[in-house]
Amino acid sequence: MKRVDDFRLKFGRKELVPIIIGGMGVDISTAELALEVSRLGGIGHISDAMVQDVSDRRFDTSFVKEKTKFYKHNIANSDKSVVKFDLDRLAEATKMHVGATMEAKRGDGMIFINCMEKLTMNSPRDTLQVRLNSALDAGIDGITLSAGLHLGSFGLMADHPRFRDAKLGIIVSSVRALQLFLRKTARLQRLPDYVIVEGPLAGGHLGFGMDWEQYDLATIVAEIAAFLKAEQLDIPLVAAGGIFTGSDAAAFLENGAAAVQVATRFTVSNECGLPAKVKQEYFLASEDDIEVNTISPTGYPMRMLKSTPAIGAGIRPNCEAYGYLLDGNGNCAYITAYNQQIVIHPDGKNISVMDKTCLCTHMRNYNCWTCGSMTYRLKDTTRRLADGTYQTLSAEHIFKDYQFSVDQQIMLPELLAEPVPG
Ligand SMILES: Cc1cc2nc3c(=O)[nH]c(=O)nc-3n(C[C@H](O)[C@H](O)[C@H](O)COP(=O)(O)O)c2cc1C
Repeated sequence: MKRVDDFRLKFGRKELVPIIIGGMGVDISTAELALEVSRLGGIGHISDAMVQDVSDRRFDTSFVKEKTKFYKHNIANSDKSVVKFDLDRLAEATKMHVGATMEAKRGDGMIFINCMEKLTMNSPRDTLQVRLNSALDAGIDGITLSAGLHLGSFGLMADHPRFRDAKLGIIVSSVRALQLFLRKTARLQRLPDYVIVEGPLAGGHLGFGMDWEQYDLATIVAEIAAFLKAEQLDIPLVAAGGIFTGSDAAAFLENGAAAVQVATRFTVSNECGLPAKVKQEYFLASEDDIEVNTISPTGYPMRMLKSTPAIGAGIRPNCEAYGYLLDGNGNCAYITAYNQQIVIHPDGKNISVMDKTCLCTHMRNYNCWTCGSMTYRLKDTTRRLADGTYQTLSAEHIFKDYQFSVDQQIMLPELLAEPVPG
């Protein structure tokens, strides 16, 4: 029986361990996590979600404070159309986050950035252009386009000197989405270097409707592989979503995938950005504690723990500070849902908004516990300590377990303290 280490992901002459750690915003897939994966010869992702806030935390800058101060006059106004991002500041924050990460990079692997189109930032085209090009300026190895069809994104980078040398890929959940992307970018004569096929069991936003249960990753990968073969396009396919063990991964590689993208197992790694208490929530989760709901203002279904504080929270929209989900006209579905509640409770107290959530604020505060469908199995990947908590794992341990394990086995970490009997 083959294991992941029997395969390599090839980009030209470069060979990588075919394990990609998916981007997890906001700073759940930290630079530390990506750096470890790159050191081990795979591909790690950072994310540019809410990059100004991430920069403030990483480098003690004050991008968010400055933006909030600038738009302070608008905080009580339900019309957020004036709240814009300063594009120079956006570029600065992106370059700091990417630049510092790339400078620290060691080893033979690569570091990519996850760039979600749905972060429309009250000026979708301009902000996306700045995000993509500043990441290239700062030396990122590759960019993964996600959460959107990205029909114009290659065009936004076409004049960058690194457009043809950086690795550029896209996440799709159907053959139709890929066909559309290829058709719209054909004039640039630049194919994606890789295509990540994300199935319905992934964490974060899903590229499916609420009928996600009817779809299956292996089937979509096979459909896309058949399409690429028919078109004589040689683009590496990466399977993602619900791949929990090295054997799961090896099965996809044996069936023609060039790599796998995984995330859930790494949410309980020491290097993951989630606070320690939230990692314990992930360990404790049972299958019934996980749901796919529609509270994300992006319009995409999202998987999360039912106990996530973001569900039903009624905080005032925080767009002057953040505003990453404002569409091109300054609207966000959370603002609409919140305002409906304000009509019913004009004093603004004890408001609960069930329809949508203020995703910026809650993701920023690690209060939206988005997770993959296999989260309930995380407890089986580690040991329980004497105090009843679960031991977090090093990214290296999880990575090597994926790389070398067989027969659906999961290697437990070395014991740090006495486990609870039984
Ligand atoms: C906590 C969490 C946050 C995520 N955030 C993002 C994100 O910001 N952008 C994105 O493209 N995918 C996101 N994902 C999806 C992952 O990158 C990955 O493709 C998927 O979860 C892989 O499946 P697995 O978690 O079952 O291994 C997230 C996944 C998790 C678990």
